[in-house]
Amino acid sequence: MTFSSKIKVIYRLIANIITNPISVFLILEDESDYKKALFKKYGIAKLRTVDINNFLQNRKASIESYTYLDGSSMVTDLALLKSLATSFEACEYLEIGSWRGESLVNVANVAHHCTSINLSPDEIVKLSKNPEYATQHGCLITDKLNITTIFANSQTFDFSTLNKKFDLIFVDADHSYEAVKNDTANVFKLLKDENSVIVWHDCGFSSELPRYSVIKAIFDGSPVEFHKHIYHVSNTMCGIYTRKNLESYLIQSPHRPDKVFSITIENKDI
Ligand SMILES: C[S@@+](CC[C@H](N)C(=O)[O-])C[C@H]1O[C@@H](n2cnc3c(N)ncnc32)[C@H](O)[C@@H]1O
Repeated sequence: MTFSSKIKVIYRLIANIITNPISVFLILEDESDYKKALFKKYGIAKLRTVDINNFLQNRKASIESYTYLDGSSMVTDLALLKSLATSFEACEYLEIGSWRGESLVNVANVAHHCTSINLSPDEIVKLSKNPEYATQHGCLITDKLNITTIFANSQTFDFSTLNKKFDLIFVDADHSYEAVKNDTANVFKLLKDENSVIVWHDCGFSSELPRYSVIKAIFDGSPVEFHKHIYHVSNTMCGIYTRKNLESYLIQSPHRPDKVFSITIENKDI
């Protein structure tokens, strides 16, 4: 979640609390229930963290299409995805949840082929009652020939109809516990081989604070023998499944910085 979307969430929370004071306790209770359940079932308080430099090439990455608008993933999230895609010879990428296409177009610049599964505009209008939100879906995808978009609900979609396995899979659709658990169970069946990687967005409310409901959903949806290969990636809001042998640690918040990033920005009209 970006800074601006955090502000928006806080604003909505405050508005909710004013109209329905009990709601704040429901949200906090919910996350703290998942925190307790995660510890009870798996004996963990959070995911172990691996350094983002395990995935960046020479500690560098560049992002071409970034809006800095609400709903964007963090720059480092996209840098992680793009770097992972680059690490495969001819990356086959699957994304569940694409919205404007921001993560999709950045990965498409380096992947061989990208498949995107997203709710159809009609379904989005029905769910969100906001036609503008619906019409913005895919608005950043212009001339990318290596993207196939499938309009479907990932909760009911038959993934076997894809007839394909993937090197890199990004799960970033419905972030409720049940939906993440279901998406997770489905994508584990779509991995090409032992080098294949899954990335989940929103494993945290920020790059430091765990989102227990999502972490519990990931663990409940994954084969138990793979739990030891699931981590949080430093400086991002992403969780990762990778069979690479990596050093990991438990992040404490506030986290003392051990690196800084340099950023140059430039923009153009679309
Ligand atoms: C957070 S946005 C994705 C952002 C995008 N990955 C990025 O980083 O630029 C989530 C998207 O998931 C879609 N979505 C939500 N529930 C879904 C479902 N059950 N099946 C497919 N797509 C879904 C929404 O329409 C929205 O476009």
